[in-house]
Order: sequence, then C-alpha cells, then structure tokens
Amino acid sequence: MPSPLSLDLAYISDLVSEADIASLAPQVGDALKSLLNKTGRGSDYLGWINLPLDAEKQVGAIKKAAKPFSSCESVVSVGIGGSYLGIKATIEALGGSDKIHYAGHHLSPTYFQNLLKQLNPKKTGIVVISKSGTTTEPAVAFRVLKTWVEKAVGKKKARGRIVAVTDESKGALKGMADAEGYKTFVIPDDVGGRYSVLTPVGLLPIAIAGYDISKLLKGAQAAAKDTQSSNLTENLSARYAAARFLLNQKGKTTEVLANFKPELHYVSEWWKQLYGESEGKEGKGLFPASVDLTTDLHSMGQYLQEGKRNLMETILWVKKEDRDIVVPRDKDDREGLNFLSGKKLSWVNEQAMKGTAAAHRDGGLPVIRLTLDEISEYNLGYLYYFFEMACGISGTLLGINPFDQPGVEAYKKNMFALLGKKGFEKLTAELKAKGIS
Ligand code: PA5
Repeated sequence: MPSPLSLDLAYISDLVSEADIASLAPQVGDALKSLLNKTGRGSDYLGWINLPLDAEKQVGAIKKAAKPFSSCESVVSVGIGGSYLGIKATIEALGGSDKIHYAGHHLSPTYFQNLLKQLNPKKTGIVVISKSGTTTEPAVAFRVLKTWVEKAVGKKKARGRIVAVTDESKGALKGMADAEGYKTFVIPDDVGGRYSVLTPVGLLPIAIAGYDISKLLKGAQAAAKDTQSSNLTENLSARYAAARFLLNQKGKTTEVLANFKPELHYVSEWWKQLYGESEGKEGKGLFPASVDLTTDLHSMGQYLQEGKRNLMETILWVKKEDRDIVVPRDKDDREGLNFLSGKKLSWVNEQAMKGTAAAHRDGGLPVIRLTLDEISEYNLGYLYYFFEMACGISGTLLGINPFDQPGVEAYKKNMFALLGKKGFEKLTAELKAKGIS
C-alpha cells in the first residue's frame, strides 16, 4: 500500500537546502541505526519500535475485554499524559464517542462534579491507566470514581466493570488490581508513557469506543517498514527529523504544529507531549506549540506572520474529507459570497491552507508541509509511528536521551511536600522557609 503521508519541504528552502539535508544524512543514518540496533541513549525504552507487530498478539484479548463495556452507558478512561493523550487524540480524530469520558488528567473539582452529574453510576465502567501506578491525578480520580460506582452497584458488580492498565509487577495500581481482582493489561517496561498509544493504554479505550484497533496497528506496521531506510528521500520520517534539526540550528527554537481541522486538536496535544518530553532537556530541543487553523489565525495569526522569527511551522493537512458541505447560492447575495456558491467547504479550507503557508513563508516563517490522505484508523497509526520515529531520531541528533523525563519529577516532589505526603517532611520545611506553604 502506498504511504498515506507526504512531506513537502519547498517552503523551508530559503533556510535549509537539499544540499544541507544531504550533508546531514550520515548523522541521521547513524541516529536511525542506533535506534534500530538499540545502541544509543535510552536504549532500554525502545519497545515502541516493534510495538505495531508485538501488540497484534494482544488484539483478540483487548477486543474481548472491550465487549462487556458495551452494556455500559458510559466508560471513564482515567489517566494523564501518555496514559490519556493518545486515547483522546485517536477517538476525537475519528469522530468522537458519546460513551467515553475522561478523568484523572487534571485536578479540577468543577470538572469532576460536572462529570459525575452527567453519568449514571449504575451504568458506568472504568478503565484506569497508569504505567507507574502512582501518579496522583489518576489515583485520586480513580478513588473517587470507584467509590461512586461501588456505592451504586456494590463492590462485586463494580469489580466486573473495572479494568486496570498498568505495570506488570510494580506500583500501587497493580497491587490494588490484584487485591480487588480487576482484569488487567500490561504496559511493557520498555515503552515510555508518551510512546504507549499502541499498547493496551490506547488500544483498550479506542476499542471500547468502537474503532478498529487492528487497522490502527496495520497503519503503524506500514510506517515501521517505511522508516527503516537511511535514504532521506525514501524515509520521510528521517527527512522530517533532519529538516527540523537543521531549522533548529538556524535559530528556530519553537515548532508550531498547525492543523486545519479541529478534530486534530488532540493529535497536536499528543505530538506536543511526545516532542516536549523527549527533546526538552539539557537546555536543548524545539519548544512544541500548536494552533488550530483557521480558528487561531484570528488570534495567533498576527504573531505567526510578524512576531519574533524564532518559529518554524509544520502544517498537518488532511487531503480528503469524509463528509463535505457545499456553499449555497443566495439570490440577494448581500455578503457578496456568491463567488463561492457551489464550492465545497473542503476546497475553501484548502485555499486557506495554501494562502496561509505562502504568507507565512513570505513573512519569514519556514513551513514544513505534511499531508495525510484522510483520517482513518490506518492513517492515524501510520502518523503516530512516523512522528515517534522522527522524535527518536531528533533526540538522538541532539545528543540527549529521548526516552526519559527526569524533569517531570520536580513539580511532583514539591506537590507531595505541600500535600504532606510521608517522606517529604524535609522538603516541606524547605518550601516553608521560602514562603511556600
Ligand atoms: O510520558 C510519560 O511517561 C508521562 O507523561 C506519563 O505518561 C504521565 O506522567 C502519566 O504517568 P503514569 O502512566 O505512570 O500515570
């Protein structure tokens, strides 16, 4: 099957030429090899490379576990970061779900109250997802939800409606699942949270939402094949990594991912976590930002066009729309819009995208263009793997470990100290001395 994704670097050629990319090819090839041969930094976390094939073995069990949830009116997917974003990204991009709700991705009591008001505890299931099994946000949310469901239907019945996705042996969630007798799925040790959308983390909720996880994996398998080559005209993932690395070297410190479909908003959020947590260390890395266009052209458009020129933009365009709308004719034509009558909205959107890309390029904002044929499970699987491989290569080119996230611990320690958790007494006192209590 031909690749559903294409890459256009014409609008960065003022800054990065084909010759520049060609001269980086040996380094990119080495980075790719170090990932595939597991010889680089963070090589303990390369389980995602073979995941599209490895995960296939679990598809039957995941689909089986998803089935009982069809009797639930709603299912709450509890998780944060890598245990949330890939699920939300996929479900929203594919058309959403009335059944799936989310909790544990922040600590807002208002959101939680509204959620509980909306759902019927007698008809609600829970998928609780935490690789470490110790993250505060999902742990608190799960305790609230579990208590709420148990109160309505009893402990025994509730047990049958809870599935935990967590570490094979470690963490509080694993211990609780074993003690309570919940069905569990394992997040492999060698797959980090932000690379886990193709593990049961993503696959179970996506299957419960009614989308085809086999096709998602098939798309990722195709991308895995297409991203093995060191040839930068064949391997578009490596080519994208090279282009953004060279732009970074030319002083571009922020990459803005721009979509033209709000359904892709959470794909951008997933992408931001992937690149932010992977590259942002040792004072390095492009800051990943995102905009939803054309909406944000009316808020962020001015900055993109004329603000500080430390930005690069990656447009994620989707060629084919599932459903379209034709602009109607109006006999009075008071708003002077009849020049568009009979035109499809997708065509209007496409002209907006082309006009925006050209204006940005002319305004000194280099634009990389990624075009996906259409939104489907297969193509999303392809896109995720494409970005994951490019991210691994990018981090390796920067010389950092793309697979750890030491920086996320700092806020957690302070939060535990302020919450009065046992073992954090010294830090509580230190914070108090700084006037933080
Ligand atoms: O990428 C990561 O590892 C993190 O962002 C995690 O996904 C996030 O902190 C949630 O962690 P956990 O799944 O352990 O609850």
